[in-house]
Amino acid sequence: MTMPPVDRYAVVGNPVEHSQSPTIHAAFARQTGQSLDYGRLLCPLDGFAATLRAFVVDTAAGPACGCNVTVPFKFEAFALATRHTPRAALARAVNTMRFDADGWLGDNTDGIGLVHDIERNAGLALAGRRVLLIGAGGGASGALGPLLAAQPAELVLANRTLEKAQALLERHLDVAGATRLRATLPADAGTAFDVVINATAASLQGAPVPVPPTVLASGTLALDMMYGPPARPFIVWAESHGARGRDGLGMLVEQAAEAFALWRGVTPETAAVLATLRARVDALA
Ligand code: ATR
Repeated sequence: MTMPPVDRYAVVGNPVEHSQSPTIHAAFARQTGQSLDYGRLLCPLDGFAATLRAFVVDTAAGPACGCNVTVPFKFEAFALATRHTPRAALARAVNTMRFDADGWLGDNTDGIGLVHDIERNAGLALAGRRVLLIGAGGGASGALGPLLAAQPAELVLANRTLEKAQALLERHLDVAGATRLRATLPADAGTAFDVVINATAASLQGAPVPVPPTVLASGTLALDMMYGPPARPFIVWAESHGARGRDGLGMLVEQAAEAFALWRGVTPETAAVLATLRARVDALA
């Protein structure tokens, strides 16, 4: 029996086998009554472009309409896209692609996903707050523009390689608005922030938390972009200093909702999907 063609999507990365994105997008598709197939595409480290092109030309099961891009290909995806949304252009990193007839559109939904998770799911409005963003790689690049758009009073960008933080800061000066924006080494970040976001690869490596605990105060929201076991040490560290620890699972679901909206023109509800995923990830831990 031949199956009718169905719009195809995938998450592309290395590694990719533990990605929760297929589960999330299948739930969004059910919820919104959309027919689509979303899979995983393991990509050799030197073969991102070739893997993507093979995915696009193989239309036997249906047209390839888009993909999510994960570690370590977000910068390569930016280079490969023929057009960019303004937020992807600012981030210079792409986590969402849409394969249009006239080219490949590159978007970055990580930062807006993070902001939605902080504001809607964690219930903390960023306007007027003091925010510490740690890291200057792909995660921090995607986050900085949308964080600034939420108009915190101050945003400190801390990275162990100061020049990378300075370069990231410099290309965001035009969108900083009234926010005080500063780049620093982690040891000089400052004290008692309202929100602390770990966008470094430290948790993934099992390395120590890259900032001193004085960045925290009672009630600080301390969020690690990782989820599952790698995020645990950061959350335990935050909670042992009186902060509210949070992992990146909400951000993951919210960035997926933005990608789904870009592809399908409909924005899914996220609360129930996040609750189901939370139970699933907790059961695996
Ligand atoms: P990603 O795309 O996941 O952000 P990346 O682009 O390699 O990954 O960036 C990793 C970030 O984590 C960088 O800011 C890196 O710091 P450097 O710019 O100094 O390399 C930071 N990082 C990686 N390992 C770290 C560690 N053990 N402690 C502190 N920061 C670390």
